[in-house]
Amino acid sequence: MALCCSTFFFAALSSILFSAPLRASQKVSNYTFMRNATAAPDISYYDYIVIGGGTAGCPLAATLSQNYSVLLLERGGSPYGNPNITNLAAFGAALSDTSPTSPAQRFISEDGVINSRARVLGGGSCLNAGFYTRASPQYAREAGWDGRAVNESYEWVEKVVAFEPEVKQWQSAVREGLLEIGVVPNNGFSYDHIGGTKVGGTIFDHQGFRHTAADLLQYANPSAITLLLHATVHRILFRVKDGSKPMAHGVVFRDSLGRKHKAYLNRHPKSEIIVSAGALGSPQLLMLSGVGPRQHLRAHNISVTLDQPLVGQGMSDNPMNAIFVPSPQPVEISLIEVVGITSFGSYIEAASGENFAGGSPTDYGMFSPKIGQLSRVPPKERTPEAIAKATEAMQGLDQAAFRGGFILEKIMGPISSGHLELRTRDPNENPSVTFNYFQDPLDLERCVQGLSTVEKIIESKAFASFRYPNMPLAMLLNMTANSPVNLLPKHTNSSLSLQQFCRDTVMTIWHYHGGCQVGKVVDRDYKVLGVDALRVIDGSTFNYSPGTNPQATVMMLGRYMGVKILTQRLRATAADQTQQ
Ligand SMILES: Cc1cc2nc3c(=O)[nH]c(=O)nc-3n(C[C@H](O)[C@H](O)[C@H](O)COP(=O)(O)OP(=O)(O)OC[C@H]3O[C@@H](n4cnc5c(N)ncnc54)[C@H](O)[C@@H]3O)c2cc1C
Ligand SMILES: *[C@@H]1O[C@H](CO)[C@@H](O)[C@H](O)[C@H]1NC(C)=O
Ligand SMILES: *[C@@H]1O[C@H](CO)[C@@H](O)[C@H](O)[C@H]1NC(C)=O
Ligand SMILES: *[C@@H]1O[C@H](CO)[C@@H](O)[C@H](O)[C@H]1NC(C)=O
Ligand SMILES: *[C@@H]1O[C@H](CO)[C@@H](O)[C@H](O)[C@H]1NC(C)=O
Ligand SMILES: *[C@@H]1O[C@H](CO)[C@@H](O)[C@H](O)[C@H]1NC(C)=O
Ligand SMILES: *[C@@H]1O[C@H](CO)[C@@H](O)[C@H](O)[C@H]1NC(C)=O
Ligand SMILES: *[C@@H]1O[C@H](CO)[C@@H](O)[C@H](O)[C@H]1NC(C)=O
Ligand SMILES: *[C@@H]1O[C@H](CO)[C@@H](O)[C@H](O)[C@H]1NC(C)=O
Repeated sequence: MALCCSTFFFAALSSILFSAPLRASQKVSNYTFMRNATAAPDISYYDYIVIGGGTAGCPLAATLSQNYSVLLLERGGSPYGNPNITNLAAFGAALSDTSPTSPAQRFISEDGVINSRARVLGGGSCLNAGFYTRASPQYAREAGWDGRAVNESYEWVEKVVAFEPEVKQWQSAVREGLLEIGVVPNNGFSYDHIGGTKVGGTIFDHQGFRHTAADLLQYANPSAITLLLHATVHRILFRVKDGSKPMAHGVVFRDSLGRKHKAYLNRHPKSEIIVSAGALGSPQLLMLSGVGPRQHLRAHNISVTLDQPLVGQGMSDNPMNAIFVPSPQPVEISLIEVVGITSFGSYIEAASGENFAGGSPTDYGMFSPKIGQLSRVPPKERTPEAIAKATEAMQGLDQAAFRGGFILEKIMGPISSGHLELRTRDPNENPSVTFNYFQDPLDLERCVQGLSTVEKIIESKAFASFRYPNMPLAMLLNMTANSPVNLLPKHTNSSLSLQQFCRDTVMTIWHYHGGCQVGKVVDRDYKVLGVDALRVIDGSTFNYSPGTNPQATVMMLGRYMGVKILTQRLRATAADQTQQ
């Protein structure tokens, strides 16, 4: 897929520019400090314990290990050597694997939209569509972050995982279409979040090889970090003394044989446990550890450490809606490369190409029913039978029907939000989660405006060679149509509104967040309110999703907070020494 010469040039250039850390063709494959949890002692002690080796947890643990002993506990396995994770063309292979050992754990929200969460070292960055783009400086200001340290942290991440994509014919047409219809200016290639049209970064290199948050562990101090795989944390342990706040001091985790292990903090007032288990995992683990709404914990026979009604509140998922545009001419395989940042709070992105990784073009891809993207039937009707039916219907189609791409819109925010609840006390099981897509009218309005923009792109001159001239737009959107390429819901209502289209075809772009929000569950230093020695650092702390896509900011936050924790501790130590 990559051109020989540009690849060669890039490798040569990168060896000059980036002596350390590793990059591009130098692939990390193993770490000396990575272990199967079965090999862990029954009891061990550390300065920091990080729960969840995901998108935030890896950069955080790597940073803390520069000066202190760190235990990083990840419930999944290693991403290295798994082609389902490392190859761009295999996108969706992991997402369609619903076995208990899959790096992706499927869940279905109470809204009825099929979704997925990571269960692998590197977290969501091992499953995602790779688009890499920063949050706006305004977002950083509102979060109370230091702008310079934020930029330094983004750069630290980008040195290892971010690349400029080689934009080919179909993505270029989407970009030209966006510019033609007025999503301007043209911002060229940029990581920055600025209004207009741009090409963003990607964590796939020019060979289509994925670089993930796990690669940031190459920054770790190998003699100070312990990384355990297949280590599922069941509970955070608290020490409760009369008159003071409960203090986190250890964790209980189980290995793949079900054996129990305990890890404790070294006795030092600055030692901490940090939860980076993601938007579903972090609120779930707090609740399992007795930090959550009292009634709810009692109903599950969990003894209450702290009555905290806001744990699990503020769960949001940015709704995604898309239109498939069949193409008369060949298109490249691409995930997200171009983005239109509109003035009305919709982001336009696109993905193209047949995907034969599974032997058939219907197997994977960003919009395959096998990965749970089933816009053909409304939410709540997306049963396993419906998935099987949709897959079968697609298999009957001519392969030419899959030549083309999806142009999607996702909305900023969103404003609508829901909540998370435990189903059982087993941390391996999904909690129940409700997102309430489009409950707020402004969210719906942004979807409608976004889809109108997508329609305009499809009808633009710049995009003309990638749509059939005899296929009117109405047909692409016509839910009653029987077109062979109609992948949209069959709907008996012919007076279709875009509002209805938004609701009926809503999918996830997997940017769900919340559950341990800043100002509600954690303070602006990500310390859990009402207890000591415990923070949450990951996407569960967001009040709304950063940038057009979150992963850059999640990784940045891991690094940023790692540096901040080290700096604060260094200052406190220096102050203590001056006093003595
Ligand atoms: C399919 C998909 C496509 C996406 N596309 C993009 C994109 O193109 N661009 C973009 O910017 N973003 C994208 N995203 C979103 C982005 O990847 C996520 O927002 C981000 O990875 C979340 O990071 P996190 O650290 O909050 O959680 P995660 O990365 O999920 O990390 C949580 C980690 O904790 C572990 N864990 C959970 N519970 C426990 C426990 N009890 N014990 C031990 N370990 C535990 C999990 O296994 C996981 O590794 C996508 C996401 C998905 C799933
Ligand atoms: C990774 O390294 C560890 C420790 O050196 C070793 O035990 C393990 O077999 C290696 N795994 C792979 C896949 O190379
Ligand atoms: C971890 O080690 C145990 C015991 O040696 C083994 O049974 C198990 O398969 C290993 N798990 C993985 C995922 O390597
Ligand atoms: C890759 O994905 C396919 C399809 O989901 C699955 O059958 C296979 O077991 C996966 N392979 C690995 C190494 O995870
Ligand atoms: C951080 O970088 C962005 C561009 O990516 C720039 O607009 C902003 O001014 C920088 N902030 C600081 C404080 O340097
Ligand atoms: C809680 O404990 C009670 C009494 O032991 C038991 O009857 C009930 O089933 C338990 N509930 C749950 C959800 O485990
Ligand atoms: C939608 O498709 C149906 C059936 O093919 C057709 O009768 C109807 O005219 C179409 N509506 C529009 C708006 O194209
Ligand atoms: C059809 O759609 C229109 C516009 O959204 C709506 O007003 C009407 O109630 C719908 N009719 C049915 C039968 O669903
Ligand atoms: C980390 O340790 C090094 C020496 O090992 C020291 O120079 C540095 O100041 C320390 N940094 C912090 C933030 O503690």
